[in-house]
Amino acid sequence: EKPGLELAVVSVPSYACQRHTPLLHHNITLTDALSILADNAELGENEGRGVAFRRAAALLKSLPQEVRGAEQLRGLPCLGEHSLRVIKEVLEDGVSHEVETTTHSEQFKAMKALTGIFGVGAKTADRWFREGIHTPSDLQRSGHTLNRAQRAGLQYYDELNLPVTKSEAVAIGQIVESAVHAVLPGAEITLIGGFRRGKQTGHDVDFLITHPDEGREEGLMPKVVSWLEAQGFLLYQKTTGNSYLESKEGPARPASNMDRFERCFSIFRLSTDNEGRENQTGRENQTGRENQTGREIQTGREIQTGREIQTGREIQTGREIQTGREIQTGREIQTGREIQKGREIQTGDGPQTYSPTLTNTDPHTHSDSPHPLPQTLVVVGDHAQKVSWVLGHSQCSGPRSWRAVRVDLVVSPYSQFAFALLGWTGSKLFERELRRWAVHEKAMTLSSHALYDRKRTQYLRASSEEEIFAHLGLEYIPPCDRNA
Ligand code: CTP
Ligand code: MN
Ligand code: MN
Repeated sequence: EKPGLELAVVSVPSYACQRHTPLLHHNITLTDALSILADNAELGENEGRGVAFRRAAALLKSLPQEVRGAEQLRGLPCLGEHSLRVIKEVLEDGVSHEVETTTHSEQFKAMKALTGIFGVGAKTADRWFREGIHTPSDLQRSGHTLNRAQRAGLQYYDELNLPVTKSEAVAIGQIVESAVHAVLPGAEITLIGGFRRGKQTGHDVDFLITHPDEGREEGLMPKVVSWLEAQGFLLYQKTTGNSYLESKEGPARPASNMDRFERCFSIFRLSTDNEGRENQTGRENQTGRENQTGREIQTGREIQTGREIQTGREIQTGREIQTGREIQTGREIQTGREIQKGREIQTGDGPQTYSPTLTNTDPHTHSDSPHPLPQTLVVVGDHAQKVSWVLGHSQCSGPRSWRAVRVDLVVSPYSQFAFALLGWTGSKLFERELRRWAVHEKAMTLSSHALYDRKRTQYLRASSEEEIFAHLGLEYIPPCDRNA
């Protein structure tokens, strides 16, 4: 058998939105290498170069089998000279010199660590790096004036860099549902972002909120936020109003990728106490177990992962993925902490709408199983009194029964729901490719609000994602295959 010939004859379309890109694919080593170069380009604010590496990686993710030799790549789109060179190197030597140099460079490590702080972008991180600040601890010591987001980002640095599990996402979903239904009964809440694409972990949890009676959703976010704040669920929030109607740019303008929905970037305080989870409240002491040591774990099914945090003290994290097959790849950052990125396992579900009928059920397991998974942060035994959760300040002396989780909330009018759903499901590259396809192949402009046909000079309505793909002349790609 010549494995080389099979791939060469397969015709692969060049836009990621024309292809099925599952979460699990056959070329992880190659795509990991290319993503590092993409990260590095983006951190150096070379967006074009970053996109080129991301497109090359996305192409490899969509291939039906492992690439074993460069000859298999002949005729495939999206592979620029630079990407091809890196791929060949990895195929031949197992590693790419450029990737190795990058991952070991002080600048890259510092930029990753600093942009890993919520509220810190590449520009700011670069300025700090040039001042000799390489780690969150350096930043803390520097006495720099930080904005509110950055202060929260620093305070919850470790936790916000722990992957959010699917069951944590479901628990957050129940809180969001309670909040939304308390202030607007009949509103619909949909899990979007990576979790909608079937990821088992994420850097945050994203929700889209709408109401079937157009107009009822207006001004919803401040009310939801007040409710959440009153219940003690929020550690940080920044709400922005809907600026779509006032905007003079006109709808569906492609120049700005940012949509103008009412939205809230937040940090939730999620109870990780197994007992507390059935009846989540943001308030402490519900179970009276806040300062106990040597906590018992109810189901005894957890996997204990030794995790070092910056204080050098060990905590044990019971973190489990539904299939029990979490694969961890150690990734290093400057602080010497190891961030373990759970590689996601595909479930490929459709939109998860939190309707009243779904209350207290986990749509991704059996509907009658009451959260069997301890995804809790559990502090065990002798270490319990010593654990320090927070970098430098606001340290608590005992074990904590909650963790900080990044949550994004977006409100859309019902008539724009399908566009918002499509626009916020991702992946980021898939979204970018959809817009590029629309403009260059169809003379249309697509945003998270609308689709505009420039030739017919009219907006094209849609009440489902399927209709939007049809308007664009694309085969429908389900969320689980948008992992470009
Ligand atoms: N998004 C957006 N505007 C922003 C931030 C995000 O439109 N200011 C969209 C992105 O295009 C993406 C979706 O929201 O489609 C989710 O973004 P994000 O949460 O950053 O990424 P995920 O794909 O959910 O990945 P992760 O699991 O790491 O959160
Ligand atoms: Mn997300
Ligand atoms: Mn997000």
